Amino acid sequence: MNFRDIDDLTTDELTTVLDRAGTIKADYEESGASDLLDGQTLGMIFEKPSTRTRVSFETGMTQLGGHAVFLGPDDIGLHGREPVKDIARALGRYVDFVMARVFDHDDVVELAEYSEVPVINALTDDAHPCQTLADLLTVREHFDDGVSVAWVGDGNNVCQSFVLGAAMSDFELTVATPEGYEVDERVLDRAAELGSAPAVTTDPETAVTDADAVYTDVWVSMGQEDERERKLADFEGFQITRELLGDRALMHCLPAHRGEEVTDAVLESDNAIVWDQAENRLHAQKGLMAWLAERE
Ligand code: CP
Ligand code: NVA
Repeated sequence: MNFRDIDDLTTDELTTVLDRAGTIKADYEESGASDLLDGQTLGMIFEKPSTRTRVSFETGMTQLGGHAVFLGPDDIGLHGREPVKDIARALGRYVDFVMARVFDHDDVVELAEYSEVPVINALTDDAHPCQTLADLLTVREHFDDGVSVAWVGDGNNVCQSFVLGAAMSDFELTVATPEGYEVDERVLDRAAELGSAPAVTTDPETAVTDADAVYTDVWVSMGQEDERERKLADFEGFQITRELLGDRALMHCLPAHRGEEVTDAVLESDNAIVWDQAENRLHAQKGLMAWLAERE
């Protein structure tokens, strides 16, 4: 069983993982660390930088009685030292789970194909399902059923996994992107298959009209630095300002680029639930790993 994107889980499995995350969160708050993953090791492959992902996975393993090994670009040489499939086969002989943050989504697919232990996608250019797990947990904690969320910004990796996660959950989603930055058609088709495709628009105002929460992410993702000037121009009008947000909650996967996709004032306001999202990375991933370990 792998976690290449959120829809590797069935809708029932997603509910189970989120329930498990909630229980693990409450148990940790009540009685601290456990031995659920005693003696188990997570291998963490990073081709891109990270704060939340690295620290939440590493801390999560410690809190469950396990251990994590960090493998940065200089350690593992994903496209230099040996083929991806050989890395997958070797790592699987040592560790109990592999987590990978890479550029090319196909690398996670290949790792999963050749690994004899579960492979968890910790962000690719196309998807960020661990973020979606945390987001769904956060939505559950903050809102009742039937909540409505608007995504305003790039139809990027975080957005695409969130679209699939929303389709598997019972909340409404509207996605506003500038022309040319839409969610991939295949993701929209998959969302429709899973339950419901989001409403799509190029107008942020329309997207937020009936929303309880507004979710945004950076306009220039890791690896897109060369596109910066063009993207900043193309995303004009998509910034989450006090006026656009109104009294709605603000979601952001972080890191944020203040003054670009969101104003400093909005991010610092009481509307922001972004720190709960960040914290829930820890609990959601602990829930996922505990659930995966029990299935193996
Ligand atoms: N949201 C998220 O994945 O943060 P990092 O890039 O800091 O891991
Ligand atoms: N879309 C962003 C998310 C970072 C967590 C990126 O890929 O850089």
